[in-house]
Amino acid sequence: MIEVSHLTRVFRTYKKVPGFWGGIRGLFHREFAETAAAKDVSFTIAEGEFVGFLGPNGAGKTTTLKMLAGLIFPTSGTARVAGYDPTQRENAYRRIFALVLGQKNQLWWDLPAIESFNLLRAIYAIPAAQFKTTLDELVTLLAVGEKLNVMVRELSLGERMKMELIAALLHRPRVLFLDEPTIGLDVVSQKAVRQFLRDYNQKYRVTILLTSHYMADIKELCERVIVIHQGKKIYDGALDRLESSGGARKKIITFLPAAAGLVAFPESWQARHATTTKRAPDGKFILCVPVEKVVVASQEILSTGPVADITIEDVPLEDVIAELFSAQV
Ligand SMILES: Nc1ncnc2c1ncn2[C@@H]1O[C@H](COP(=O)(O)OP(=O)(O)OP(=O)(O)O)[C@@H](O)[C@H]1O
Ligand SMILES: [Mg+2]
Repeated sequence: MIEVSHLTRVFRTYKKVPGFWGGIRGLFHREFAETAAAKDVSFTIAEGEFVGFLGPNGAGKTTTLKMLAGLIFPTSGTARVAGYDPTQRENAYRRIFALVLGQKNQLWWDLPAIESFNLLRAIYAIPAAQFKTTLDELVTLLAVGEKLNVMVRELSLGERMKMELIAALLHRPRVLFLDEPTIGLDVVSQKAVRQFLRDYNQKYRVTILLTSHYMADIKELCERVIVIHQGKKIYDGALDRLESSGGARKKIITFLPAAAGLVAFPESWQARHATTTKRAPDGKFILCVPVEKVVVASQEILSTGPVADITIEDVPLEDVIAELFSAQV
């Protein structure tokens, strides 16, 4: 459904030299800085897949999604979505995809959402009966029936995001590019949006490429993830495999009473349990140990003296991904 081949986008920005003389110099001799927001990115996504698109701030996720939507042009490389070349901006292509930018408002600010939906109906020439069925279904699933006649600028962030999703789906696109659709939402709304996206993907087999900085979104929705870093693809595969790529480890978090006076775990332990240890400022000791060492390491900690609390957790996905990024530098 989506085929991206050697996609590259270089942004050229004017480098302003500070100060008055810098300004004068800039009049005659302009210096440019080049940022490669996407560097030779290739991947393919099959119909119905729900793929997470991850990367730190500035990695090039939004840029790639915008190229797929035909909003910006690649410097080189090609993309094809459902057989269309997004750079051609054909009307037929517009009808089959939707781009949702969580950071941007696409609905008319001073109109109730329902008015925007009616405008979209006209723009996409959606038959009245189909429009009604689709709208009713979406409004029910997202539980925003009572807010349809409220001005968009008076809606809460979560309600607005739900309206944005409805607006994006009214024309029943086959491919969805979702750029941080849950940004800034409270946990309950995040859950509602996630649930909605999962059901929608399963019910209609739409292909979805999702970016989010909330790992809960990715974990709950995507079996496959593509990770980019400084414009380059550094991982493409199963989320499970990424999670376990740092080795199956657990985190043992220990609170020792201040009186225990321990400032670091003995080095001999680190060698024995193959741990990495960290002392957090709040007096917590964090050990990352291989799964098979969890029991014996915990016993050794408990036998050192008074322990106020101890918890054992999985190494969070955030940490695994952060390690992946730092390994790239
Ligand atoms: N219009 C533009 N002009 C110049 N540089 C740009 C432009 N748009 C993006 N960039 C640069 O390209 C890089 C990638 O930006 P992009 O918005 O794609 O990152 P992102 O992965 O979406 O990050 P975030 O997680 O913060 O949203 C950044 O270094 C950014 O400064
Ligand atoms: Mg972005």
